Amino acid sequence: MTLLERGETTFSGGRALRGQVRVPGDKSISHRALLLAALAEGRSVVRGLSTGEDVARTRAAVALLGAGLEGDAIEGGRSRLREADEPIDLGNSGTAMRLLAGLAASLPFLSVLYGDESLRRRPMLRVVDPLWAMGAAIDGREGGRLAPLAVRGGGLIGREHRPQAASAQVKGAILLAGLAAAGETVVYEALATRRHSEELLALAGAELTTEESPDGYAVRVRAGSLRPFELDVPGDPSQAAFLLVAGCVVPGSDVTVENVYVGPGRAGFLAVLDRMGADLEIVPRSPTTADVRARHRPLRGTEVGGTEVPGVIDEIPVLAVAAALAEGTTVFSGAAELRAKESDRIATMASELGKLGVSLEERPDGLVVHGAGAGALEPARSGALRRLRAVVSHGDHRVAMSLAVAALAGTEGDAVTVSGFAAVDTSWPGFASVIEQLGGATAPAGAAT
Ligand code: S3P
Repeated sequence: MTLLERGETTFSGGRALRGQVRVPGDKSISHRALLLAALAEGRSVVRGLSTGEDVARTRAAVALLGAGLEGDAIEGGRSRLREADEPIDLGNSGTAMRLLAGLAASLPFLSVLYGDESLRRRPMLRVVDPLWAMGAAIDGREGGRLAPLAVRGGGLIGREHRPQAASAQVKGAILLAGLAAAGETVVYEALATRRHSEELLALAGAELTTEESPDGYAVRVRAGSLRPFELDVPGDPSQAAFLLVAGCVVPGSDVTVENVYVGPGRAGFLAVLDRMGADLEIVPRSPTTADVRARHRPLRGTEVGGTEVPGVIDEIPVLAVAAALAEGTTVFSGAAELRAKESDRIATMASELGKLGVSLEERPDGLVVHGAGAGALEPARSGALRRLRAVVSHGDHRVAMSLAVAALAGTEGDAVTVSGFAAVDTSWPGFASVIEQLGGATAPAGAAT
């Protein structure tokens, strides 16, 4: 069975969400922590990794490459790593595939990387091209455009890169390759993206510098060995976003998410919600983490675009739900990248929110959502559709959880079944139980409450 078909969960409206919870460890940090620990010379300890399948794939990948894994401990080092005796399956994870391509380019043997149907449709040239430029031997379907990718690494030369796509995955892949390239490897970013690769490379003692200039932002790295590190992975802001938007839009709600990463490139959705008039309280715990509280209050429409987009790209689906429940119109632009995610998120969110009665228009690079205030998701419905409506996840975890939030914002007696809900397992298998813990109503397929 594919991700498109697995699992169905029904969410009901009319129940406030209240309480204080944690979300899984940040997915972007988790992937990188595993890859860098595999390279670091000795025993690293990483606590609180993301519990989803995507990160489990990266864990399995570094084990296949020879890292030693036991609980939170990872025994790494370049001399331990060896050719995997089978292709490496990265499942649904674009981040795992692209970062692994960079790591594999630095390893002097063959690695074959593949994934599920969705991953095999996603663009790979953005990472293959710069790695080719550094001298890596990579082949893939359609001339390297699509996975599977076969990477024969080693013999790399440092270069300057100006990636076309504003992508932290591409930046991360280049920096990983740069760890074993002759000379200096530089990535210039016109639009800044999340900085987890830089943060973790610095933690592992890489020879790395970053600089802001009027042209943008630059990261430089030189070859060198990494030292083992200890890390407590903070909560994933992209997962917190589902709960916090739910807190904002479900009447009577008061939700606090503890220990969320709010460092560079990840807290943009809080700024968007703030512009929408949300009742948010952000209590810092460290320079990059905070407890974030969201209470229900009417929202208003806003514009999301330009340089802000890379920092909110994963949150746009759930922000579209907030927009549907706001007064006035919200325009999401400059976000064509959404079409290259686990699903075409512009098309999938437009089609599924449309089924829930939201008035919106799809644009090549975004969405225009005509919010109708708190009643926006009141369906125009009759007969059998009166109590139970059906939407689909398109095999995309963020679409599934966004639709759950939309359902929770419905009125009492109004239930929405999300089919393909098991897609959430890629990033957050426990999502529905946390919703229940907060007092939300969920039920197995068909059992409208
Ligand atoms: C990620 C970067 C983003 C994001 C993805 C995770 C990362 O993708 O959408 O969920 O961990 O580097 P792009 O790099 O393709 O923009």
